[in-house]
Amino acid sequence: MNRPSPQAPEPILEVSGLVKHYPLTRGVLFRKQTGAVKAVDGVDFVLRRGETLGIVGESGCGKSTVARLLCSLERPTAGRIRYRGEDITRLSGRALKAVRRNIQMVFQDPYTSLNPRMTVGDIVGEPFDIHPEVAPKGDRRRRVKELLDVVGLNPEYVNRYPHQFSGGQRQRIGIARGLALRPEIIVADEPVSALDVSVQAQVINLMERLQAEFGLSYVFIAHDLSVVRHISDRVAVMYLGRIVETGTDEEIYEHPTHPYTQALLSAVPVPDPEARERRERIVLSGDVPSPAAIPSGCRFRTRCFKARPRCAVEVPVLAVPEAFRSEGGPAAHDSACHFAAEREPPPGPVPRREPDGHGAASAP
Ligand SMILES: Nc1ncnc2c1ncn2[C@@H]1O[C@H](COP(=O)(O)OP(=O)(O)OP(=O)(O)O)[C@@H](O)[C@H]1O
Ligand code: SF4
Ligand SMILES: [Mg+2]
Repeated sequence: MNRPSPQAPEPILEVSGLVKHYPLTRGVLFRKQTGAVKAVDGVDFVLRRGETLGIVGESGCGKSTVARLLCSLERPTAGRIRYRGEDITRLSGRALKAVRRNIQMVFQDPYTSLNPRMTVGDIVGEPFDIHPEVAPKGDRRRRVKELLDVVGLNPEYVNRYPHQFSGGQRQRIGIARGLALRPEIIVADEPVSALDVSVQAQVINLMERLQAEFGLSYVFIAHDLSVVRHISDRVAVMYLGRIVETGTDEEIYEHPTHPYTQALLSAVPVPDPEARERRERIVLSGDVPSPAAIPSGCRFRTRCFKARPRCAVEVPVLAVPEAFRSEGGPAAHDSACHFAAEREPPPGPVPRREPDGHGAASAP
């Protein structure tokens, strides 16, 4: 694993060996387990106080399942999640409630995640009903209005309903609700994926401002590589339930060593036509295998352009590859590949999303 620098803030979340398998069963009266959907299959990472960890990967690789596990909405099949040093995976009752308060989730779809029959004031204030111990003692309405103001919404809209707002405004309502209990960590599951590009940038800028203002730590999930780069200090790339490469944004975007990351980056649209001409796109063969039938050895091997016989029998470990261990430098970051190597990075920097909303890019 990469060593943190001596000045790095302390870990607030430490995830190790995290597994979530959903059993596949057959039969009505006598249910028999016939297999398992291995949605999350051995995930390790650390989130440090005040930082943003971006998690990126194709649809179905287990991102939302990781998010639900982090927020204790589901229990893992195995593994540990340590919050401030304490394993939270087996907590119940009051202790679980206290942890849930401190790790809040912001959901992807602002159209379906808000109850259409509740006013904005009731939606943002709802967490106070669940956690009366941290509800404002006096005027709850005033606190809700303050929260709307913090996320850039007119506090006078407190009696309006979700359908009276645009998509971006609705996501601001979701963020206000997430902030109500003053959490330490926000797990944002594709918070801008359902929004127009120009609105995405505004919501991301808002999240960055709130992070600085309240000292929040973020796990930011997206399939959009440029969005993740814009907001993340570190990035983890997931494939079929595992992290296959992780490092700082510079390490991942400028010096990727895992073939999967290289393929994802080669598909990011490049605005400069000349750079576009020069770059070589890696087209991945086939579809992502089912998480109920994960390939032996390296789980990426069925689509990897570099696969060799060793890849079918030996599981690659997520660690700094031997080739880079002694020389150090930006290629010396964790990568789960037997043949990890730098490849010519895509010409020109991966476009970051600017405040005006230009420079959008998506993974395939
Ligand atoms: N409750 C469940 N029961 C069975 N399988 C599930 C359950 N929840 C998720 N899965 C499966 O686990 C895998 C990972 O799903 P998950 O929603 O975590 O992926 P994701 O990376 O968030 O995908 P997307 O980008 O589409 O949101 C998928 O194959 C999904 O069908
Ligand atoms: S271990 Fe083999 S199959 Fe897996 S990413 Fe590396 S080269 Fe490809
Ligand atoms: Mg998801």
